[in-house]
Amino acid sequence: MSKGNTGLPAAAVCLWLVISGALSQTSSTVEEDEAPCESYIRQSYSMCDGEREYINMRKQIVVEALSNLGIDCDEETIPRIAFLASGGGQRAAVGLVGSLYQLKKANLLDTVLYLGGVSGSTWSMATLYGDPEWSNRMDDAVRRLSSPGVELKQALDWLTERRNDNIFSLSDIWGVLTSAGIMKQLDTRHLSDESCRNATNPYPIYCAVEKECLHSGPTEGKWFEVSPHEAGFPELGRFIETSLLGSKFQGGEMVEKMPEMDMVRLQGVLGCALAHGETIRSHSPSWLNITEYLDTASKYVHMYNTLQYLIALTRSTINNPNSVDAIEKLQKILEEKVGENKAEYLKAMTTEEKARLVQQWTYDMLPLLETWCHSLEEGSFKKHMTFLIEQLLPLIVKWEWGTTQNFLYQYEDSSIPACLSGERLHLLDAGLLVNVAYPSFLGDKRDIDLIIAPEYSAGKMFETLTMGRDYAAEFKKPFPKVDDEILKDRDWPKDCYVFEGKEREPTIIFMPLFNRNNSKDAADIKAKMNDFTTFQPPFTQEKLEYLLETAKANVKNNQDTLLNEIKKAFRRRLSKQGQ
Ligand SMILES: *[C@@H]1O[C@H](CO)[C@@H](O)[C@H](O)[C@H]1NC(C)=O
Ligand SMILES: *[C@@H]1O[C@H](CO)[C@@H](O)[C@H](O)[C@H]1NC(C)=O
Repeated sequence: MSKGNTGLPAAAVCLWLVISGALSQTSSTVEEDEAPCESYIRQSYSMCDGEREYINMRKQIVVEALSNLGIDCDEETIPRIAFLASGGGQRAAVGLVGSLYQLKKANLLDTVLYLGGVSGSTWSMATLYGDPEWSNRMDDAVRRLSSPGVELKQALDWLTERRNDNIFSLSDIWGVLTSAGIMKQLDTRHLSDESCRNATNPYPIYCAVEKECLHSGPTEGKWFEVSPHEAGFPELGRFIETSLLGSKFQGGEMVEKMPEMDMVRLQGVLGCALAHGETIRSHSPSWLNITEYLDTASKYVHMYNTLQYLIALTRSTINNPNSVDAIEKLQKILEEKVGENKAEYLKAMTTEEKARLVQQWTYDMLPLLETWCHSLEEGSFKKHMTFLIEQLLPLIVKWEWGTTQNFLYQYEDSSIPACLSGERLHLLDAGLLVNVAYPSFLGDKRDIDLIIAPEYSAGKMFETLTMGRDYAAEFKKPFPKVDDEILKDRDWPKDCYVFEGKEREPTIIFMPLFNRNNSKDAADIKAKMNDFTTFQPPFTQEKLEYLLETAKANVKNNQDTLLNEIKKAFRRRLSKQGQ
């Protein structure tokens, strides 16, 4: 069934059929003999034609930008630069806009071929690319961060339209509330709409991980990337057109065409780190020793954190002071319930009994929401909250995230691992594997010379780098030498590190958000991280501006280093081409 690299004519036929609408009769079963394409699934470790064309166009812009900086090159000899923003919730989303703003000011933005994101940085990528000319309008992009926002009613209308989809999951509620509450817009575009754009902006790559493979599969099945042209597993070399991600496939044939996910849903899928256990330790009530029965206690703490975060996001979509009061009351009710020290109850119990009791507590939180809702005064707020809670509760109980159809379902190909045998995929925040999109940018496929990596993560400093290094080692991909010596700087890092690439390795410029240049010592950095934790109610205007300025200053203070490394990357590229 699976064929090699789909030939160009077949791809052209596919495209024509999509355009002519022959494949888009919604929910109709495609008959065997109506499936004229050689294969929907592209099997390759190289770029697809669409990306190649885009990159060729983008190279012309890069040539011009470099020429303005005094670097004389052509499309063949330009250094290939990727800007890879780390995750980190709203801190990353805002930080990325600040970094890009300053990059533009320094005339460096147009030297960048790719923009790769995970988690929080994908939230602002989705918003940026809502403007086809964002690279030339960074002032607008900054302004949009402080726009008045979206009202709850609009967010609920979005949910109303999608709640009957059979792939509705918690990520949808997550996506709509982060879009409305943090990015202050609901963007119902589709990523594939960008496939016909000109190359005014760097080419965007959004990353995720697949849940089953993350837990039990080989690393090949874990990393997932989505571009305007295609979506799939780079290490397996299996892709589908982005517009078909979400359609039902069986044995490599499309059995039902479904609408592509919009940017709101995509944002929910890509940036849902709280769906997972990694963030749990810092968020658990102090009386609860979760290491003892990690599994059930994790669920308990997760559910609490998720509810609180979703409620905080909801609050930011509301203006009426009475409704705000009511929401704050709900936050308190939950806080008191979980904060109440119940260690006494657990004392004499066996581990199993404890686990059972904690599980009970987990579900005891849910009726509190309903009771609170019933107690509200009649009116539109009550109506809206009733609807939201009705949608939320069953999904919270199922705890299902990031659901979409699996285009590799029953695909006859022995290299597809068992973790991808299900009818559906569950795509999660890529930060659960590596909080920077290195996996998509190492090696021959995109052949990158220079990676600019602003670091907004909350984890241990340099962890994204060492994890990227380990990932590269596993797949024998080039990665610059990262000496463990730098770990000494972990608590109080410099503002810029250059890990120099030799020959095939890219150079990485690693730029921590909080650093020696803007924080007086390790304690100060810690305090700043606490002030800007990943999961908190949307930032106030003051915090937002502080973060923007911090990110801008970091690029500004290091723009000579950036330019210098671009020049070196150019020389490496020249010698590579010469070989
Ligand atoms: C790119 O497309 C936009 C419209 O989306 C247009 O305004 C702009 O002039 C185009 N740029 C180039 C370089 O063609
Ligand atoms: C931050 O970096 C800039 C530029 O290198 C420098 O002028 C400034 O003194 C630095 N500030 C601190 C507090 O280190």
